[in-house]
Amino acid sequence: MTEIDLSADLFGQSLQSPLLNASGVHCQTKEELNDLANTSNLGAMVTKSATLQAREGNPNPRYHDLANGSINSMGLPNLGYDFYLDYVLEDQQKPTILSVAALSAADAITLLKKLQASDYQGPTELNLSCPNIVGEPQLAYDFEATDQVLSEVFSFYTKPLGVKLPPYFDLVHFDQIAKVLNKYPLTHVNTINSVGNGLWVDVEKEQVVTKAKGGFGGLGGAMVLPTALANVRALRQRLNPSIKVLGTGGVTTGADVFAHILCGADLVSVGTQVMKEGLGVYDRLAAELKEIMAAKGYQTLDDFRGQLKEL
Ligand code: SIN
Repeated sequence: MTEIDLSADLFGQSLQSPLLNASGVHCQTKEELNDLANTSNLGAMVTKSATLQAREGNPNPRYHDLANGSINSMGLPNLGYDFYLDYVLEDQQKPTILSVAALSAADAITLLKKLQASDYQGPTELNLSCPNIVGEPQLAYDFEATDQVLSEVFSFYTKPLGVKLPPYFDLVHFDQIAKVLNKYPLTHVNTINSVGNGLWVDVEKEQVVTKAKGGFGGLGGAMVLPTALANVRALRQRLNPSIKVLGTGGVTTGADVFAHILCGADLVSVGTQVMKEGLGVYDRLAAELKEIMAAKGYQTLDDFRGQLKEL
């Protein structure tokens, strides 16, 4: 039988597999990052989104497994920008995307100015979409503010930079965000962050399941797969070909990875399913993906990437 090749590309670095962790899952501490570096079939890794200062995040409980996914209100707990910068500069053992999150537009500029002045030359992702910060909006839902931030960032920033986006639900919004993003030399978009401000009700206890924000939190896992696929597809159809699409959301099987790539994803991230199943999930997903590709007669990811058929 012909060998199935899952190799992929991260902005010029070749990867053994198209699979990533979703930022936030098993990537906060040095131990967790080292675990990811040692995980087979994980092609590249993403750090927990770093803020300028370390953050405790929201009070517990802040993550809850649901039958068809999860709800979280983590609130960006992280060890701070300096820790993650040191990690990618000193300890990196596998291709890594440094994720950074700003609590305000001004923060984003400060963070990226520091990064521009640093020795780090690798890929960075600016998280414009965390739904769980009390009192702060998801910046990428404000198209004008996103345009302003990116315009200022790219007036000084010259290293590889992409953005993490929230899910969009209206075709007009896909047009509007793509118009903004296409103005800038972005390496990639990562779509989607969790579906913000869902609410789960524990009927027996008659109460919410996470503490912050009255129980409102980001949804992930199987229930968001159709939304994630729609965002990958819609953005791939609208963005400049030079802007890669990292598909995140709803992956529980190799078929889901296949579907993301068929919609146009260059790489595919897994979040909730890592929480549920552990890091062994990547071996299973890679094996299932290879099985599907073999059955269909595909040898490489390029054989079907973006080839979704319409009726
Ligand atoms: C969180 O820390 O609240 C989740 C991260 C994110 O949604 O960006």
